[in-house]
Amino acid sequence: MSSADIDWKTLGFDYIKTDLRYISHWKGGEWDEGQLTEDNKLHISEGSTALHYGQQCFEGLKAYRCKDGSINLFRPDQNAARMRRSCARLLMPAVSTEKFIDACKQVVRANERFIPPYGTGGALYLRPFLIGVGDNIGVHSAPEFIFSVFATPVGAYFKGGMTPTNFIVSDYDRAAPNGTGAAKVGGNYAASLLPGLDAKNRQFGDCIYLDPETHTKIEEVGSANFFAITEDGRFVTPKSPSILPSITKYSLLELAKERLGLEVEEGDVFIDKLDGYKEAGACGTAAVITPIGGIQNGPDFHVFYSETEVGPVTKRLYEELVGIQYGDREAPAGWIVKVD
Ligand SMILES: Cc1ncc(COP(=O)(O)O)c(C=O)c1O
Repeated sequence: MSSADIDWKTLGFDYIKTDLRYISHWKGGEWDEGQLTEDNKLHISEGSTALHYGQQCFEGLKAYRCKDGSINLFRPDQNAARMRRSCARLLMPAVSTEKFIDACKQVVRANERFIPPYGTGGALYLRPFLIGVGDNIGVHSAPEFIFSVFATPVGAYFKGGMTPTNFIVSDYDRAAPNGTGAAKVGGNYAASLLPGLDAKNRQFGDCIYLDPETHTKIEEVGSANFFAITEDGRFVTPKSPSILPSITKYSLLELAKERLGLEVEEGDVFIDKLDGYKEAGACGTAAVITPIGGIQNGPDFHVFYSETEVGPVTKRLYEELVGIQYGDREAPAGWIVKVD
């Protein structure tokens, strides 16, 4: 199969239709076998709960082309587990880790020509999603469900990739204190569109959400988690029930401790105490690690390390993470699943 006709160097984060996607249906209490299809359109009932009541969730992970030509998935079992937690929160049927990873592998194999070559910095982004469908009108769980996985090749999410980006604190909340913030459900993202656009219109990469209860602590950076390095060299990341538990963040936490020998802490990051941090970053599957240049909070603009240079700890974390993802550095046990 020939490589897709794509300029890998200029790839952004946009939808590109690939050859095949996986689809499985749940009906009468069980999932069917699932299959690959060329059709990138869904034909669903107008009464589908996903359309009216937001009964849906999704995931995001990447397949990486290694130097030796093999293909890596990064911690797909963690995405499978998170999707099950999202499903439990929204009364949707669970997909086993085995089915989830098998679907991802099938989609990667079927679209191998779309995997950006090693060295271009791109990856094949996988979007698993699960939606409530079937004829329905009342506010209750759907009679049927669809689990699907599609793929699209991507480059950097934030323009500029590993260059410092500025963010602005939003007045809006992303999720309620006991709401759905920890689940990867569409409603959270619908609510984030307006604040995100406001931030971009003001030339910021995205907005920072504070904790919805007191508006004093950093929670998320757009669709990425936040971390910072304290003046005395500790790796700190916010802990809150309304944050999406980022797989990248928990990986960095482990790498900071085990490979960089840093003390790590999940705790409070107060927005009025940023002076105590010498570096900060946004992390996620799409964002990878995006260094945070500065944060605008009302009239105050706080610069961390630099608006143009990447701090040394952020750089080492990036090299470790990306090295593992592309197979250049040894991965902790179980982090890499090969697609063969
Ligand atoms: C709101 C939000 N926070 C954080 C993340 C980062 O999570 P992960 O590292 O699992 O991609 C994402 C992306 O999935 C997200 O949408």
